Amino acid sequence: MPEIAAPRGTRDILPADAPAWRRLLDTHAEVAELFGYAYVETPVFESTELFARGVGQETDIVEKQMFTFEDRGGRSLTLRPEGTAGTLRGVLGARLDQEQRPVRVHYAGPMFRAERPQAGRQHQFTQLGIECIGERSAALDSEVIEIAWLYFTRLGISGLQLQVNTLGTGDDRRRYREALVSYYTPLRDQLCEDCRRRLELNPLRLLDCKKDARFVAEAPVIWDILDGESQIYFESVLASLRDAGVDARVNHRIVRGLDYYTDTVFEFWHESLHGAQNSLGGGGRYDGLAQTLGFAPTPATGYALGVERILLVARELGTLPGPSPNGDVLVCSVEPPQSLRAASDARALRSAGVRVVLDVSDRRLDRKLRAADRVGARVVVIVGEEEAAADAASVRDLAAHSQQRISRAQLVESVVSLLGRAA
Ligand code: HAM
Repeated sequence: MPEIAAPRGTRDILPADAPAWRRLLDTHAEVAELFGYAYVETPVFESTELFARGVGQETDIVEKQMFTFEDRGGRSLTLRPEGTAGTLRGVLGARLDQEQRPVRVHYAGPMFRAERPQAGRQHQFTQLGIECIGERSAALDSEVIEIAWLYFTRLGISGLQLQVNTLGTGDDRRRYREALVSYYTPLRDQLCEDCRRRLELNPLRLLDCKKDARFVAEAPVIWDILDGESQIYFESVLASLRDAGVDARVNHRIVRGLDYYTDTVFEFWHESLHGAQNSLGGGGRYDGLAQTLGFAPTPATGYALGVERILLVARELGTLPGPSPNGDVLVCSVEPPQSLRAASDARALRSAGVRVVLDVSDRRLDRKLRAADRVGARVVVIVGEEEAAADAASVRDLAAHSQQRISRAQLVESVVSLLGRAA
């Protein structure tokens, strides 16, 4: 029978990657919590309507990237393509905003999009996100960007570019959409097939086209269409970012791939990611989303970062830990009759807080000793027939190349003291 392979567009996190992976997740939690964000989890699948309404019917995500299925009762469900709509549903559904405003939450977990897989683009990927729900303030738009900035700084990621823009209010967006339609309509016959569709359905996305880049360069700029108040709001976000020492570049072509944004939007780009996958993360303000989902109007802002892409960049920069040792001590039996005795000694050492790997295989002792290196052990405890009969163990200090016989009563104490000396 053929071996079963992992589904396309997925990957396993195996021990060699695990320390780096955990560093990425733990550091994000630490930084978010430094700003008072609390950890939340929401379901991996939601009703399809949440995303159709929230992310937007005409977006690429909803049109062609969702993993949608029916449950046994015929209800349409979708594996979440992003975390904002579900988090907002969870927070507002539990009325958390009535206890405290804003509600500050962070999350980490798998998301699913059926995009053509390639490096940094998967069907299942992991996002780290934060959402700040219930208040509209330039200081909070700046706060979420500062959190991501501090996170990347703590990871030692250099070469990052923060691109920021504003999409203004719903009215501003409507006017901008009209301006784009007037500009692009006479060019219709020269546009690529995708752009012709975008012109009908989602004109803002025309700005994302790589094929029709020459038209994008001449297209109307949102800044010129914005209402004065929207401009003042964006200026305050920029002032706050300057004050925080965050290096932001204004780019009026950033429109984002999800429909719920208003005012501030941003993306973190990195030079070592190319083309469509150059974004390590992105986010922005989404004051209209709560109402779209049927809740009372509630302003909010947030971001999400892609862990697989950050891992690619951080690996290239060499800023992440390599595989970590499994244990400080290897306890091994010489022959099978001593295996339970060896297991018992391992247990005693672990209760003293020592990380122990047990080897009760029937390999030869010299092979087992070689395995100690792979485990990362500094001390090996050997239980052979003689040791078992004498109620003792042989303790080998790998660094000092010395070995002594120790009675079981003294075993924990002497191993702990050897490890202390080696540290
Ligand atoms: P997004 O820009 O669609 O925003 O996704 C955020 C990040 O997720 C991307 O920058 C990228 O790093 C990662 N990502 C997206 N798709 C893939 C994929 N197929 N494979 C690997 N990584 C991927 C959002 O999802 C919004 N919910 C962000 C947000 C939060 N806005 C406000 N609050």
